[in-house]
Amino acid sequence: MLEKKYPYYLANKAQTSKEWMDVVDKYSGKVATKVAVPDAKAVEQAIAAAVKATEPMREFKPWARQAVLQHCVKRFIERRDELAYALCVEAGKPIKDSDGEVTRLIETFTIAAEESVRTNGETINLEIAKRLDGYHGYTKRVPLGPVSFITPFNFPLNLVAHKVAPAIAAGCPFVLKPAERTPIGALIIGEVLAETDLPKGAFSILNLDGKHAGPLVEDPRFKLLSFTGSQIGWDLKARAGHKKVTLELGGNAACIVDADQGPHLDRVIDRLIFGAFYQSGQSCISVQRIYVHDSIYDELKKRLVAAVKKLKAGDPKKKDTFLGPMIDEAAAERLYSWIEEARKAGGKVLCGGKRKGPMLEATLMEDVPRDTKVNRQEVFGPFALLARYKDFDDAVAMVNDSDYGLQAGIFTDSLAHAMRAWNELDQGGVIVNDIPSFRVDNMPYGGVKLSGIGREGVRYAIEDMTELRLMVMREV
Ligand code: SIN
Repeated sequence: MLEKKYPYYLANKAQTSKEWMDVVDKYSGKVATKVAVPDAKAVEQAIAAAVKATEPMREFKPWARQAVLQHCVKRFIERRDELAYALCVEAGKPIKDSDGEVTRLIETFTIAAEESVRTNGETINLEIAKRLDGYHGYTKRVPLGPVSFITPFNFPLNLVAHKVAPAIAAGCPFVLKPAERTPIGALIIGEVLAETDLPKGAFSILNLDGKHAGPLVEDPRFKLLSFTGSQIGWDLKARAGHKKVTLELGGNAACIVDADQGPHLDRVIDRLIFGAFYQSGQSCISVQRIYVHDSIYDELKKRLVAAVKKLKAGDPKKKDTFLGPMIDEAAAERLYSWIEEARKAGGKVLCGGKRKGPMLEATLMEDVPRDTKVNRQEVFGPFALLARYKDFDDAVAMVNDSDYGLQAGIFTDSLAHAMRAWNELDQGGVIVNDIPSFRVDNMPYGGVKLSGIGREGVRYAIEDMTELRLMVMREV
């Protein structure tokens, strides 16, 4: 069971309100709980408190920041089952995946605890000519000040962790707006942070809808906006003024299966299924386009389709469920209509393609025309298309024929092809012998083209949340 109601957090303190917002169990469609909604005055108070906390957070020593993060790790371990269950209810994420996300939450905070005492600078040799004898340069990293965060529904814990934990490690006060449909994960993180001795005003977590989140985007008192979500991020950037902006906006991730993979098809198929369909494909790096060498295409297709047909769909609370609901019926209907569009344009449905409420079947297609939505846009659902290639150059070109570039995968035994993929694929990351959906929380993660700007992955987010400050010392 979830708590009956959850407060929001203003300047480190739980707050209730006159207005409450329903959070729905995404599988049953019933109201699971309610969260308190702050008014405009509370939003202003949160920003003012974050501004006031700038100096105290700067002065909050690295060891103290580390202690806060370590406390979170300890509490998340203790509250593991509750966190996983909340996630399962509010996101409809199968309990196995929910538990996996709690593991990643714990890892992200652990990495941040380690990084919090490692934000070092460097010594720069300035004596590059005789006239500069005796000059030395030193850098250190200084927290930016107040930062604002907007997070999506698909990882209600770990994508919040990727903003909150680096902010604490960096020494930045923050105001966070979690996704309206899945705020509970962030609010439990808030409850744990409220147990710590973070300086007053260091954090606020506000259950706002998009219409009321304008100040988090536009207010010049914020020095950085970090947004993860849809293409709407580019509009937010245009409204953000002079502050830094980092965006993680997803893509239509591709995976190449090279000619030499015949002996490894079981392993490859296992990973493709996970990459395309885990948490109903609602990941920015879900496998969407699978490019298979002509010589193994038919065999891979046959075995992949057979395996996908066996996936167990249904109640995410059951341990053996692989495929749960999409976030809501509208999302499922949107992807269903895209599949229909591709089918009418000549694409062939190999399996799946039907929808009941928010449940969309795991769907595979082939012969999908280039200019259909399931090919060009981010499907963000349980769907992948198959296409064949004969020449490796073509595979590279097909992956790059996209407006996005977050991560790509390539299964190959060829070092030359692996290196070509790394060199020639226009992506934030290339994963060799695994799916584009692979992510460990200390690696740099972010995209090129419409997929976004900037990198997360704790250390890289800390870099974004701090400014390099130089000191030049002259020996006199
Ligand atoms: C995302 O959907 O952007 C996050 C994927 C992940 O963290 O695994």
